[in-house]
Amino acid sequence: MTTVGEPAADTGLVLGATRWSVSGRRTLVSNSARLEADVREGLRQNPPTLPARWFYDERGSKLFDEITRLPEYYPTRRETEILLNHARHVVTLTEATTLVELGSGTSAKTRLLLDAFSHHGPLTFVPIDISVEVLTAAAQRIADGYPTVTVAALVADLDDPLGRLPGAAGGRLVAFLGGTIGNYNAAGRAAFLTRLRDSLDAGDHFLLGADLKKDPARLVAAYDDSAGVTAEFNRNLIEVLRRELDAEGLTPVDFEHIARWNDELGQIEMWLRSVRDVHACFRAINLEWDLPKGAEMLTEISTKFELPSLHAELARHGFDLVHAWNDAAGDFSLSLLVAT
Ligand code: AVJ
Repeated sequence: MTTVGEPAADTGLVLGATRWSVSGRRTLVSNSARLEADVREGLRQNPPTLPARWFYDERGSKLFDEITRLPEYYPTRRETEILLNHARHVVTLTEATTLVELGSGTSAKTRLLLDAFSHHGPLTFVPIDISVEVLTAAAQRIADGYPTVTVAALVADLDDPLGRLPGAAGGRLVAFLGGTIGNYNAAGRAAFLTRLRDSLDAGDHFLLGADLKKDPARLVAAYDDSAGVTAEFNRNLIEVLRRELDAEGLTPVDFEHIARWNDELGQIEMWLRSVRDVHACFRAINLEWDLPKGAEMLTEISTKFELPSLHAELARHGFDLVHAWNDAAGDFSLSLLVAT
């Protein structure tokens, strides 16, 4: 494991009395190899499909931040409400000494957990994200705001084997918030839960945020907001592909955003539909791609759950329910599970 950024005392980056570190196995090179593989595999499928992780470049992360504040996008507000009311309860139920956050991004909601932990003993916080830049900024800020917390950030792709997670057996709490588990389909979710269970010991805890099924009209509105921010977020994927793969003939304005409820699979789908014939050349990987006018590409799924079946699925993967909380409106859920 290579340390990609550990602040030395003379850099001025040691904040308060706390040291923070960022380490990991992924490098930019392996990242671009993964993008190449995703594009080669994804674009020749029918319909063409790309994994959601490529949304989150700098602009995409900012747009997602904006999405979380949109009136139609309820999940962030609902989950924040649950954490505000119940984070203390989560902490006392787990007595954890290491908090691991998967896909942590800016770690904004995690602060509610860290606040609750501040009434307990020493804590190590391990944010895990695919972006070194996002992690470094978050690690600095968290270390700054929580002088008694040790921050040991990890650069990793959740689709890779995680390895045994840091911390003592039985003392880990892994948080996977925001409903991001919904980005996996059933097979992807099963593989993810297997990887996660393999990275833990019996007695470790798992805190999972999951969005719940509701009126499809509200779901579609949450993914097709009236200000058009989600449309920009979706189209930004085209810009990421253009830039990262040096693509010619590919431009975001050639695509329109679609959000659709798939009742059979219980998922919101985001699509990009071409408004003219697209003839693109990805020069960095020597790949040509044609998409006729009106053709659609699947860019994200966001599964919505019913709690009994979600909890049954988790139990089949070695996670037993300890407690589940909803927001007052019953829109979103937070489940605490224990590894068996
Ligand atoms: C960050 C994956 C939870 O699925 O609701 C928001 C991403 N996409 N609007 C979600 C997203 C469009 C979001 N997650």
